[in-house]
Amino acid sequence: MIEAFDFFHVGRVLFGNGRCQELGGLARQWGERMLLVTNAGDVGDGALVDRVIELSEQAGMTVHCFRQRGEPNVEDVQTALAMARDQRCDVVVAMGGGSAIDAGKAVAGLMTNGGSVLDYMEVIGRGQKLTRPAAPWIAVPTTAGTGAEVTRNAVIGCPEKKFKASLRSERLLPQLALIDPTLAIDVPRWVTARSGMDALCQLIESFTSNRAQPLTDGLALQGIELAAKALPKVVAAGDDLENRGKMALAALISGVTLTNVGLGAVHGFAAPAGANYPIPHGTVCARLLPPVIQANVTALRADSGGDAYLARYAQIGRSLTGTGGSDSQAIEAGIAFLIDLVEDLQIPPLREFGLTPDGFPELVALARKASSMRYNPVPLSDQALMTILQQAW
Ligand SMILES: [Fe+2]
Repeated sequence: MIEAFDFFHVGRVLFGNGRCQELGGLARQWGERMLLVTNAGDVGDGALVDRVIELSEQAGMTVHCFRQRGEPNVEDVQTALAMARDQRCDVVVAMGGGSAIDAGKAVAGLMTNGGSVLDYMEVIGRGQKLTRPAAPWIAVPTTAGTGAEVTRNAVIGCPEKKFKASLRSERLLPQLALIDPTLAIDVPRWVTARSGMDALCQLIESFTSNRAQPLTDGLALQGIELAAKALPKVVAAGDDLENRGKMALAALISGVTLTNVGLGAVHGFAAPAGANYPIPHGTVCARLLPPVIQANVTALRADSGGDAYLARYAQIGRSLTGTGGSDSQAIEAGIAFLIDLVEDLQIPPLREFGLTPDGFPELVALARKASSMRYNPVPLSDQALMTILQQAW
């Protein structure tokens, strides 16, 4: 029997090479004063940000730019929000990697709902519900990774609380996600690699989530196949537009799946690891993915109800490698594929970011509080979580 499910999605997705040209006219339909939240460059650098400002001004808009640096924290969001309120902005365009998109998403939500970001955040805030629709906003990703352009949560860091958590509501979905794969052409190799591993990880964790549903299952498998083939090629040749497009699509799909069914233990660890150490999100995901799958498979084999999830891990192995064999062989081949991929992409191990084994127990304790951990296909013991960190280290 098909179990009940909900499915959330943005109003409209525009996908295609060169479609960034349409941005100004699209934004103009919702207002005249744009807050551009970006980490894709600076005003005056003669590149993408200047081009978007020019296009928007040609469409009759005034543009105020907030430059997001690093992953967004509470202070960043409050600063950008103050700018939006002072300048009476009526439209937000969030353009860049997931950090800029999440910052812009949070600002759009707060512009209409009032209060501060901590009033609404999960885990580390007061967890109030957003009661009004967000200000109209457009998401324009320039990296293929988080899928934040179609998710209904913004991940925000709080350094004092040593944690990253979400502002989450379906009211945060953008009016429009504009995905132009040409915008990623100049993204550096290492950003392409780790962002792509985030997307692949999100697709795998969605497919094995304990809330997985039929509408996202087919999408997730399609995304896994796309990313497994395209990611090594696009890391090797950044101007390979065909594979840039495939990765942009895989990342978009990962956002659709994760926002509907959740993730798992990799992302459970990613929240506290990213808040306590200067480890890029995609790097944490890449390094933790193979050991988390190994731990989950071991726990599922010892669990009387684990067969359905083991079959899913076998499907993932087949999608990654294109090979057949028994379920066990497919699972092992899938794990081996991911270990090789992380090495081939030269994703650094976690020890290179100041994490030491002394810090493992705190990370395990914090990971248990993360929302993603709830959707892991099987509960993992503290010992299993410690072993995962040791293997990713
Ligand atoms: Fe992620």
